Amino acid sequence: MFNFFTQTTPKEIKQGKMIALMNQKGGVGKTTMAYNLAHAFKEKGDKVLCVDMDPQGNFSSLFGLELNDERVGIHQLMVNSVKELKALHNGSQLSDALVQTKDGIDLLPSGQELSGFELTVAGINAPRQLILKKMLEKWELRSKYDVIIIDGPPTLGLLVVNILCAADGVLYPFVPDRFSEQGLLNIKQVVEDISEMEITNVPKNLGYIPNLFDQRRKQAHADLEQIQLKLGAEGVMFEPFFNKVQFGKSLAQRKSVFHYKTSEFKGLQDQFLKMTDVVHQELQK
Ligand SMILES: Nc1ncnc2c1ncn2[C@@H]1O[C@H](COP(=O)(O)OP(=O)(O)OP(=O)(O)O)[C@@H](O)[C@H]1O
Ligand SMILES: [Mg+2]
Repeated sequence: MFNFFTQTTPKEIKQGKMIALMNQKGGVGKTTMAYNLAHAFKEKGDKVLCVDMDPQGNFSSLFGLELNDERVGIHQLMVNSVKELKALHNGSQLSDALVQTKDGIDLLPSGQELSGFELTVAGINAPRQLILKKMLEKWELRSKYDVIIIDGPPTLGLLVVNILCAADGVLYPFVPDRFSEQGLLNIKQVVEDISEMEITNVPKNLGYIPNLFDQRRKQAHADLEQIQLKLGAEGVMFEPFFNKVQFGKSLAQRKSVFHYKTSEFKGLQDQFLKMTDVVHQELQK
């Protein structure tokens, strides 16, 4: 029998998942986790796109791009996707911005111009919170990638709101000392605000990543428990990452932990691979 619906619905359109690494606090490992996690997904066979949403451009430089390079980046693509900003359009296409890195991972880079985003879009009538989401939809990026990893900035402004409106899930790296929980609570408040505005679905809490955990410090375990209590029941608490020289060494060489075959990197590789499984499971729930 002729079935109208199966005729018109394309069978296997990829529905890639967008995962953002977020914390208002700086230096907690957002970029480190985003970079290594992207490589872990790639190791698992996923096609990965990385999106640098931090004007500092650290994510881009880990992939070998320099901040001062003249290039089209995420900022121009977002500007080009807003009709009201026509005067600022430069005709750049996705392919002008997309970098195919030596790691076999694609990247939409950022740079200093991204810090002007909030001002650039201040006067428009279109929903300013949804510019990143619309841009990603316009270029059908979900159908081109299995996983899209967004590295967030250590701020709370419009860039962060755009990321949270676009993402399917959020991972929260944090340093488990009693001074750093506020950054987490603040960003979770933004998620709640977005939920109350009812402009779009809020991203799922995929879990918390304790980083730079100092297990020799007496208070460390107690602090972690305290933070866990404040964060509430929602969200997986991942196994902590210790302060590891392997991170310093690999990042200085602009390499992920998967680049190294020596045994000292094996534990970290396993930890990131395990994280990809949990993330996939959480996103399917
Ligand atoms: N587990 C770790 N062991 C050792 N060094 C680490 C670890 N995690 C992160 N670092 C180092 O700490 C520094 C800060 O990490 P990173 O840049 O990933 O933080 P961030 O949250 O992205 O910071 P920002 O908010 O400024 O973007 C980097 O130099 C990184 O190499
Ligand atoms: Mg960073």
